[in-house]
Amino acid sequence: MSDIAKLVINGQEYEFPVKVGTENEIAIDIKSLRAATNGVITIDSGFKNTGSCESKITFLDGEKGILRHRGYAIEDLTKKAGFLEVAYLVIFGELPTKEQFSKWEADIKRHSLLNEEMKNIIDGFPKKAHPMGMLSSLTSALTAFNPATVDINSEEQVYGAITTLMGKFPVIAAWAHSKNQGLPLNYANNSMGYIENIMQLMFRIPTEPYEMNPIAVKALDELLILHEDHEQNCSTSTVRIVGSSEAGLFASVSGGVSALWGRLHGGANQAVLEMLKDIQDDGGDVEKYINKAKDKNDPFRLMGFGHRVYKNFDPRARIIKNAADELFADLGTNDPVLEIAKHLEEVALSDPYFAEKKLYPNVDFYSGIIYRALGFPVEMFTVMCAIGRLPGWIAQWKEMRLNHEPIGRPRQLYTGEPLRAFKEFDER
Ligand code: CMC
Repeated sequence: MSDIAKLVINGQEYEFPVKVGTENEIAIDIKSLRAATNGVITIDSGFKNTGSCESKITFLDGEKGILRHRGYAIEDLTKKAGFLEVAYLVIFGELPTKEQFSKWEADIKRHSLLNEEMKNIIDGFPKKAHPMGMLSSLTSALTAFNPATVDINSEEQVYGAITTLMGKFPVIAAWAHSKNQGLPLNYANNSMGYIENIMQLMFRIPTEPYEMNPIAVKALDELLILHEDHEQNCSTSTVRIVGSSEAGLFASVSGGVSALWGRLHGGANQAVLEMLKDIQDDGGDVEKYINKAKDKNDPFRLMGFGHRVYKNFDPRARIIKNAADELFADLGTNDPVLEIAKHLEEVALSDPYFAEKKLYPNVDFYSGIIYRALGFPVEMFTVMCAIGRLPGWIAQWKEMRLNHEPIGRPRQLYTGEPLRAFKEFDER
């Protein structure tokens, strides 16, 4: 492979350096394109071919179905580590020692109390406000309660902002849930682990003792690890681009939450469950929905299928499917929606349309079924995904700032009207 790429424009040849990543990924560095060519740009709608940065956090190979954080396989991380341990790895680059982990966990817990005035903001939302909207607003509101700007060159200040957000984010998420349910807002219990705390924050009610189900805790831990980072996806790119203007961490993550909300991204887990329920209510006719998804004149898409990067299988989907089976066996529950999902997957995978377009179940195909078994209402599914993704957003924000990346500001190809004479009202 040559280390130079050549581009010919109007008979003139230009050369650009070729960069090679750790896993032999190849990128043409076009940094000098505009300057060298007197204004030529590239167009790549949806950034399907554009690398926005160099990153040391996550490697994924969509053809081979590989996902690794800081060099560690996702299969190992879900089996052998806990959520906060992987969060430390993703954010700081190495698995923590026992001492580092104890300090990390304690520092996060120290920040698990929200300012009581946050309750005034919660009060202002209508009861049925979508929890993703509340999560995004309240994450942004953290800026008002923690107005000090973070000096990116101060390790201590950056660490403080990170532990603050890691501590407060699940509490905000739980308060959004409680608001929806008309329940009192719970406080964190710092004698519990991070995942146990999420469960009690969400589900403990004051009238009854809360019994922690270790099976549920294990399943949630695994599910959240699977979501921790996924390199330059829509919400992460949003966090990086918001942060590139030197907006703070909380404001940047709030932008990420909004980006995650859409049903083509994290919102797919809610959309999958709604789709499965529709199929169930419609008599379970899976083939009918497969045909709808294949019909170009029908806007219906098989939610939880397809991925921008994975074109073989999504390794997270494999792990989740097994986790769903284990959880249902352990809890002894039986959800007919799981059977519909499995049938739908089977029919889709044997259909040439999906094979030709390389459409496979993604992480969200089974995640909603697990959240439902754990007791979360559908509106909370994407919120849970956000809790899982938080360490990735933080790691990517930190990496972007420490690399002193320039402000994110793409170009465009203008295709509107050329200069024209202004028309007065009576001429229009
Ligand atoms: N059902 C039916 N057809 C589909 C689907 C689907 N779920 N996904 C893609 N296609 C077709 C699409 O119509 C297009 O066909 P054609 O080439 O004939 O025009 C072709 O496959 C390529 O699709 P695309 O939309 O150009 O691919 P993309 O990379 O821009 O979109 C995607 C990726 C994930 C947005 C898309 O597959 C999709 O909408 N899936 C359903 C939503 C979903 O499950 N999203 C969660 C993604 S995983 C969680 C995360 O990381 O956020």
